[in-house]
Amino acid sequence: MNDFRIALLGLGTVGTAVAELLATTRDECLARAERPVVVDRIIVRNLDRPRSIPEDLPGKKVLTSDPMDAVHDPEIDAIVELVGGEDHPRIWIKEALESGKDVITANKAVLAIHGEELFNIALDQKKGLYYEASVAAAVPVLQVIQQGIPAGPVDRLMGILNGTCNYILDSLEQNSFEQSVELAQQAGLAEADPTLDVSGMDSAHKLALLARILLGYTVSVEDMRVEGIVGIDPIDLSFGWSHDLRLKLVGVLARNGKGTSMGVMPCFLNADHPLSNIRQEDNAILLEADPFGSLVLQGKGAGGKPTAGSVVADILRAARGDTFATPFVEKRQDILDPGAIPMRHYLRLDVPDRPGVLARVAGALASEEVGIAALEQSENLSTKSNIVPIQILTHPVSTIQLDKALERLDEDLKRTTSPVRIRIEE
Ligand code: HSE
Repeated sequence: MNDFRIALLGLGTVGTAVAELLATTRDECLARAERPVVVDRIIVRNLDRPRSIPEDLPGKKVLTSDPMDAVHDPEIDAIVELVGGEDHPRIWIKEALESGKDVITANKAVLAIHGEELFNIALDQKKGLYYEASVAAAVPVLQVIQQGIPAGPVDRLMGILNGTCNYILDSLEQNSFEQSVELAQQAGLAEADPTLDVSGMDSAHKLALLARILLGYTVSVEDMRVEGIVGIDPIDLSFGWSHDLRLKLVGVLARNGKGTSMGVMPCFLNADHPLSNIRQEDNAILLEADPFGSLVLQGKGAGGKPTAGSVVADILRAARGDTFATPFVEKRQDILDPGAIPMRHYLRLDVPDRPGVLARVAGALASEEVGIAALEQSENLSTKSNIVPIQILTHPVSTIQLDKALERLDEDLKRTTSPVRIRIEE
């Protein structure tokens, strides 16, 4: 039995968890891979930092700081890229595939942006590019949609794809946005700079990878409407609770006879919606298709150990030589904007508590035919601020039309008000 020799690129939270899992499950790995999996190289940025590498991790475990040592080492069968980022990983993955190695990665950004190039090189080289851990960490959703169900007929996918945002939205029930981000950082979920997560872009990268398998062609985040959770306040969530609605950041892919719409947006879901009770850093993916109705996959969507489980599963697949099935190829459909679909919306405007303001807001909405279904404003009891939130539920209207109405707010209100608008998925 030949050893399957791997190099770990990166020994951060996920890399460390992968090393620990390979050490603690070495017998099981041997049985499942049908050959020993050994770690010959570990690449870290800073060689001076103390590292805890498990003693019973099989392999030579040579610690170096240059990824190219591993990428061009003929003894290495596969590189496991766990560094993250975009430009450098693109080069490492490209050169590793070109020099005949398999690649396992948890890096959704590099694949969402450079996937076309990298998947084609893998295909040409007849090498595996494995990326289960890049979407929904512990949830084996890529395996399921690629191999477990017929991909073609899936008409709709709705997913909570970012554990950090889901954790922050949960926390907003008790804390401010800033406190919630800090708590997510303390829990080891959010990065020091949480922009990629809270802007919705991390979810968009994951949706692009799911879409590629479901649609059979490369999808870019530019094909999507991407909105994040910045600006959402605890009062938005409490308004939702009082109307039996739960706020989630969701990625949605929907197909109809006219085309495909894709987007990542904060949405209010009815309390009995299958995704409304997904809590903390869990992810969940709801799939709808004619043959099976609907199914939900749920599990931990972020963190070292949950991600490591999927990375190790991919390492074992690579060691066995299992490749992902080539996606079926469908004719590229027209891209539709999910913001064009009429839906009820929640709207919050923080406005000065002065006579006539409500009439000006109502006038702007009326000018674009936005109907108000419900409206709430509490008395301002603060002695320090003259600003009050007006919270509105609209009748069904497209996000595009609602945005046009908000553009019609007079300059004075536009200056003082940062409207928050959230779609309501029925
Ligand atoms: N930051 C991501 C999340 C995990 O919170 O879901 C890695 O993609």
